[in-house]
Amino acid sequence: MKPKSPRESMVEMTELVLPNDTNLLGNLLGGRLMHLVDVAGAMAAQRHSNRIVVTAAIDSVEFNHPVKQGQMITLKAKVTWVGRTSMEVAVEVFSEDFMTGERKFTNRAYLTFVAVDSSSRPVEVCKLLLETDEDRKENEAAAIRRAERIRKKEQQ
Ligand SMILES: CC(C)(COP(=O)(O)OP(=O)(O)OC[C@H]1O[C@@H](n2cnc3c(N)ncnc32)[C@H](O)[C@@H]1OP(=O)(O)O)[C@@H](O)C(=O)NCCC(=O)NCCS
Repeated sequence: MKPKSPRESMVEMTELVLPNDTNLLGNLLGGRLMHLVDVAGAMAAQRHSNRIVVTAAIDSVEFNHPVKQGQMITLKAKVTWVGRTSMEVAVEVFSEDFMTGERKFTNRAYLTFVAVDSSSRPVEVCKLLLETDEDRKENEAAAIRRAERIRKKEQQ
């Protein structure tokens, strides 16, 4: 399988925050945001692997700023690390007030997806082609997070 760069599988997704997405204060619900993060991340992993993927792990997520009803959110998902069958994807979330043009970085989450066949068995994926210094830096940090996840899983 030909290696693929993070650039080739990157996903950018923009949504408008509607009343149904919000809590009683008019802020985007955490669960709704996590759903969008999961979908954006899965699409990047599927583009990388050309396979169906399942979510194996989501690292802790912090909500740094509330996102208000009527604002736009943009999610940027990028594959940062690839193992044999699993991939780490970083998803960054930005809010945007389209009336003022103000943009804010609100969240970053790291998710692990596993490529599976039609019987839900893990299947091998193509390697990650690190093109830029940023790719290499993110890949090194991702390898450390991956080791920590495996260590935690083995302790369970
Ligand atoms: C994820 C899943 C396919 C892994 O299956 P498994 O039998 O444990 O398979 P393996 O032990 O061969 O692991 C496959 C890969 O997943 C990785 N993995 C499994 N659990 C993990 C975890 N908690 N965190 C990080 N990576 C994990 C393994 O390290 C391995 O990676 P590698 O091939 O790149 O080295 C299986 O646990 C599963 O189906 N889980 C449910 C997924 C789900 O329903 N998600 C929600 C809806 S999409």
